[in-house]
Amino acid sequence: MVKPDGVQRNLIGDIVARFEQKGFKLVGAKLMTISADLAETHYSEHKERPFFGELVEFITSGPVFAMVWEGENVVASARTMMGKTNPSEALPGTIRGDYGISVGKNIIHGSDSLESASREIGLFFDEKELNSYEKQTEAWIY
Ligand code: PPS
Repeated sequence: MVKPDGVQRNLIGDIVARFEQKGFKLVGAKLMTISADLAETHYSEHKERPFFGELVEFITSGPVFAMVWEGENVVASARTMMGKTNPSEALPGTIRGDYGISVGKNIIHGSDSLESASREIGLFFDEKELNSYEKQTEAWIY
């Protein structure tokens, strides 16, 4: 998910391009504004942490771009492409390393396991918003 700071900074296109160019397949995406209820459910594992209120306030502060990507080891690969949670520790070449400065506003969220991906997809998408398709090998692709 491109977080509100990434949307405000016009980074949606760059981030989508990185995942496309890596070779992953986009199966769902939408610009949406997260309600406080959804934010609290999404981040419920961090409920007791001191920054929880700040986290919920930030993620609901403006639209996010939610995405579902498919491909071999996509969860682990996406985490590598995102870089460390704290952008000041994230390597150049990663999304947070290239664009982020603060741990609160760190541009992108990614599921940390298949289980959390499945849970988060269920929270953010209806079944009918997910597209199952094969890459075409027709003559009009050169
Ligand atoms: S991780 O990747 O889950 O291990 O990272 P973690 O450090 O546990 O952080 C979980 C999410 O909380 C955000 N975060 C913060 N927000 C505001 N202020 C502070 N100090 C702060 N520290 C961590 C962090 O960006 C993670 O958000 P997501 O969306 O899960 O990446």
